[in-house]
Amino acid sequence: MLGNLFYVLHVLGAVLWVGGMAFAILALRPALAALEPAQRLALHEGVLSRFFRIVWHAMPAVLLSGWLLLFGWYGGFQGSAWHIHLMHLLGLVMAGVFLALVTGPWRAFRAALAAGDRGRAGAAAERIRQLVSLNLVLGLATIAVAAWGRFG
Ligand code: HEM
Repeated sequence: MLGNLFYVLHVLGAVLWVGGMAFAILALRPALAALEPAQRLALHEGVLSRFFRIVWHAMPAVLLSGWLLLFGWYGGFQGSAWHIHLMHLLGLVMAGVFLALVTGPWRAFRAALAAGDRGRAGAAAERIRQLVSLNLVLGLATIAVAAWGRFG
């Protein structure tokens, strides 16, 4: 029962995190071209600050529930299959990319916006896009690995 709950939490966290990135990169971003640069930057800030707040909850939920499952139900490092090791590694890389993103370009983006420097804000937004795209690819790969390995 507790294991089921952790599993559900794990998958829901992954859905929110990876699904949010897919929406941001594949649907929202191309549509932003219709806006004036100033509006685009303001919308970027509004959307990303809400989304990153979600990731601040989803990411620890995915990692913690993953560790609880790994060590509580799947026999730890020795007992678990290849796909769990690969998922673990990819999950840690994704967490590192997210932390690098929020402490680097996201902070720079907000500072530039507050200072009214649209050029710097645009450059930081581009770096954010690159890192979110990287994490989207890693997240999709992680889900593919998880599902592939589980099916056997
Ligand atoms: C600390 C990192 C992680 C650990 C220790 C971990 C551990 C696990 C474990 C033990 C399972 C059960 C696998 C099975 O029953 O065969 C699982 C399932 C799953 N994990 Fe992770 N995970 C981690 C990170 C992630 C991340 C970052 C994602 C996605 C972005 C993810 C997505 C999934 C999905 C979708 C499943 C369900 C697979 C299925 O039922 O077909 N995991 N994880």
